[in-house]
Amino acid sequence: MKLLITGAHGMAGQSLTQKLKQLNDIRLLTPTKQALNLLDQQAINHYLRAEQPEMIIHLAARVGGIQANIANPVAFLTDNILINTHLLTGALSHKIKNLLFIGSSCMYPKDREILSESDMLTGLLEPTNEGYALAKISGASLCKYINLQYGFAYKTIIPCNLYGPYDNFHPTQSHLIPGLIRKLHEARQMNKNEVVIWGNGDARREFMYVDDLTNFIMLAIQRINVLPQSINVGLGYDYTIKEYYQMAAKIIGFQGEFVYDKNQPTGMQKKLLNISLAKNLGWQAQSSLEYGLKKTYDYFLSLPTC
Ligand SMILES: NC(=O)c1ccc[n+]([C@@H]2O[C@H](COP(=O)([O-])OP(=O)(O)OC[C@H]3O[C@@H](n4cnc5c(N)ncnc54)[C@H](OP(=O)(O)O)[C@@H]3O)[C@@H](O)[C@H]2O)c1
Repeated sequence: MKLLITGAHGMAGQSLTQKLKQLNDIRLLTPTKQALNLLDQQAINHYLRAEQPEMIIHLAARVGGIQANIANPVAFLTDNILINTHLLTGALSHKIKNLLFIGSSCMYPKDREILSESDMLTGLLEPTNEGYALAKISGASLCKYINLQYGFAYKTIIPCNLYGPYDNFHPTQSHLIPGLIRKLHEARQMNKNEVVIWGNGDARREFMYVDDLTNFIMLAIQRINVLPQSINVGLGYDYTIKEYYQMAAKIIGFQGEFVYDKNQPTGMQKKLLNISLAKNLGWQAQSSLEYGLKKTYDYFLSLPTC
């Protein structure tokens, strides 16, 4: 099978391509953003016409943490809407029948603590990443409409927060886990006595090691026709932000104190995916928090800028 992965050089893409490369019957297409910019509809059409993949795993997106989303909501909405619309309509017009679209748990209403697939479009979104969430919702809806109208199999996988090697460790643009790894590493290097945590540290978050998501994608590739239209993929349990800091501090060797800045935004108090549908398919996340954080810290240490 000829399989196109968009975003193949990002965090999830690196993990997925490593697994797919081990299979003999898959021919992988993994263009970089420079080779195939998904903001350019003509380039997509040209690429799909030339390569004719049989299935697309659409991982590419403008992705960022809370600060990046707050600072640039216009780009998080418009880039992601354009990327998704261009790619999905391009795939449709080239009659590519199978596509996995990657959503995000921020597609769900902000007032729910446990998030089930049927909760989509039943309430207000978290304002700090509303633009990104709206683009994901429109992408998932477009998948559904294409299936209804044309009988294709365009399915949406909705992961919880992810972390792992190839994550973005930028000091201001990163998600919680790479951000706290950098902070704790630098604090240890500079012999600092304290590290500031945004909020009171009690908000709960579900962060899954990226290999667990790509294990699910491997299963989904085989069973795309029987997958539900949208399916949550997460741990099914969560930790407080303080617990993530504590585990990372243990791995990194930071022995100072945590100070809480309650004036900073932390987003929702709790977000936990209901993963019953994924469990029904026989899947469950396998990586412990300690294992995932160690692997991620090892990757961070290998970066030239670290
Ligand atoms: N990370 C998370 O916590 C998380 C949680 C839930 C869902 N997701 C979703 O999972 C998917 C993978 O996320 P990730 O963490 O692996 O993200 P990532 O590391 O930021 O990778 C995203 C990839 O998309 C590419 N890309 C961005 N704009 C593009 C464009 N215009 N044309 C072509 N490629 C473009 C990026 O290329 P460049 O690097 O060259 O810009 C990058 O390779 C995304 O759809 C994301 O929304 C992520």
